[in-house]
Amino acid sequence: MHLIEFDERQQLFHLKNEQISYIMNIASGGYLQQVYFGKRLQVYSGIRAYPDLNIQFSPNPAHDKDRSYSLDVSLLEYPGNGFGDFRIPAHSIYHENGSQVTDLRFKRYEIRQGKPTLTSLPATYVMDASEAETLLIVLEDVGSKIEMELSYTIYKDRNVITRSTVVRNTGSENHMIKKAASMSLDFANRPFDLLQLHGSWGNERQLCREKISPGIKLLDSKRGASSHQHNPFVCLVEPSTDETHGEAYGFCLVYSGNHETMVERDQLGQTRVTMGINSFDFSWKLTAGESFQTPEVVMVYSEQGLNELSSTYHDLFNERLIRGTHKQKERPVLINNWEATYFDFSEEKLLEIIEEAQSLGIELFVLDDGWFGKREDDTTSLGDWVEFEGKLKNGLRFLSQEVHKRGMKFGLWLEPEMISPVSNLYNEHAEWAFHIPGRDSAVARSQYVLNFALSEVRDNIYQQLKAILDTVEVDYIKWDMNRNMTEVYSLDLPAEEQGSTAHRYMLGVYAFVERLRSDYPELLLEGCAGGGGRFDAGWLYYMPQIWTSDNSDAVSRLKIQYGTSLAYPPSSMGAHVSAIPNHQTQRSTSLATRGNVAMSGVLGYELDISSLTTIEKEEIKEQIAFYKQHRSLFQFGKFVRLLDPFLGNEAAWMFISKDKKEAVVFYFRVMTQAIRPLQVLKLQQLLPDRQYRVNGSDIYLGDELMYAGFFIDPGLEGDYASQLFHLKALEVE
Ligand code: DGJ
Repeated sequence: MHLIEFDERQQLFHLKNEQISYIMNIASGGYLQQVYFGKRLQVYSGIRAYPDLNIQFSPNPAHDKDRSYSLDVSLLEYPGNGFGDFRIPAHSIYHENGSQVTDLRFKRYEIRQGKPTLTSLPATYVMDASEAETLLIVLEDVGSKIEMELSYTIYKDRNVITRSTVVRNTGSENHMIKKAASMSLDFANRPFDLLQLHGSWGNERQLCREKISPGIKLLDSKRGASSHQHNPFVCLVEPSTDETHGEAYGFCLVYSGNHETMVERDQLGQTRVTMGINSFDFSWKLTAGESFQTPEVVMVYSEQGLNELSSTYHDLFNERLIRGTHKQKERPVLINNWEATYFDFSEEKLLEIIEEAQSLGIELFVLDDGWFGKREDDTTSLGDWVEFEGKLKNGLRFLSQEVHKRGMKFGLWLEPEMISPVSNLYNEHAEWAFHIPGRDSAVARSQYVLNFALSEVRDNIYQQLKAILDTVEVDYIKWDMNRNMTEVYSLDLPAEEQGSTAHRYMLGVYAFVERLRSDYPELLLEGCAGGGGRFDAGWLYYMPQIWTSDNSDAVSRLKIQYGTSLAYPPSSMGAHVSAIPNHQTQRSTSLATRGNVAMSGVLGYELDISSLTTIEKEEIKEQIAFYKQHRSLFQFGKFVRLLDPFLGNEAAWMFISKDKKEAVVFYFRVMTQAIRPLQVLKLQQLLPDRQYRVNGSDIYLGDELMYAGFFIDPGLEGDYASQLFHLKALEVE
């Protein structure tokens, strides 16, 4: 069976698999119209044909006298600007004569097996061409000779449609792209809520739900990274949709730079969503014969609420976005020295931590910031990727050997995109830092950003890193990025092309990491940007895990990890047990609660374990042993959200194996009360007829655990309490 069909009679494209349908038609005049996106339709008969409407004051297509054909309200697939649709355009292009009208009409289409790659950009992929089909539709603005190639991939076994666009200049004039969204999607009139993940440093990906009302909502980043503030992911849901019921549409941009999502509710209550590179300050010169490739958007449809939507994203990202040696491989339990020592470490201190880590069962030691240049604090040395002579008595190589001798892996912190004004690199190449000649540049954390769009900059940093990687055995890199971009300006570009710099920077960063990955394929890379300032699907294509937030407080993490899980799998979330009082919030939580939260991602430790009591060490040892025993469940099992910390005082979630025979459930209560409400916890996804042994003792049928649920122990005392339940299905005789 084909996944994509073109119905000649109806001039209709129908993309469908066993779960979903996506339908478009070529309307009169050649406009590509959106018809339907949702639960699978066996056939489409034309029932949803857009009614003829004479909307007063509304333009009809050029050269068409039919007043009932209104572009003002038509559901269009990739609308332009200035031709009769006054809603947010998917693209905006200035032509040589200063006009910016693009009136796209259908030109041709092609259906391909599989999924083509995107030039120089991250994207989801297929392992075999039979997994998906791709529809390429070319629309053309005859006046400017601009072609838009809209790409739609439908996977056979996933509720996923991916979209991206190529803008092509087939004429002889030059054009300036001001906006080129990856996709635009129109929904017929229906009530929707918008779910977005907003935040700040230390408070990333907070879930916010609001009714979509008339007008335009903009969510974006102009910071040069996908940002702590607005994640490039949104969801449109019906007002009644919750975790387990109702329709949900997810949109996730596979890009790590400036992004923009616009949601508009129009005069008829119709909703348009556009998503892509931020058009604010963007421009890209398209000379004759050239093309511009937008990033990809992954659209997911769920008719069973948000948990199902998230599972679809998690599986796709684990299986068809993340690549390389560590794809679907269990990730090591790590210890990072940052919160244990900050910059103030010595070989003796690190060896103490390493020694202890080994005895607790930790598998990877990560040496964080401070090992290079003259880096005593955060004011110097970024760009000088040579060992800090004398700081480690016997050097980095020796330390790595000591770690390996103990059967552990060795990891190193880097911040390759940055330069300190106090550094040798800055003395030699101040011009490599983003700056505007004649104007002072803003510093942030006492550093500037290197213009990674320039190949000489990338080569210099690459050679420096290579020298380290070729002499010291490094198994893991934490790739940090600790400031947002200002004075974004490229000395090698003419004035009219400066608007392309931020995107060129991102392409340069991607090219750099790709080179690193191919030269050192065994390296495990963990992304970081002052915690979760660049936690996006684009970065996951290069780095299978990302430090979720600099805020390691267990209570803050409940919301951060819950929000992050909307789109991103637990296998991608770095989560550490840290010291109390917590360094970011000064809150003290039990070691058990800290462990339970951190086990809900890729477990790590970030505290001076050598100074803990014997009892604490024993507890950590048990946490690690338990985590290792169930690691594939935690990292690659199905993650199901049960109680939403954004709605109340509690949170709960569970991990269940694909065969549903094993599960681990976590319950968290933030604040206690004198008389505590009795919480019934109902589990999900179990086999109703199967018996499960809970915490090694009592046995219950799956249906009881799911439909009746059980009371959380009223004896659970204190603030920040948590409980863990392990469920194991009994073998059937
Ligand atoms: C910010 C990171 O998020 C921290 O974990 C730590 O690596 C520091 N940078 C080091 O400067």
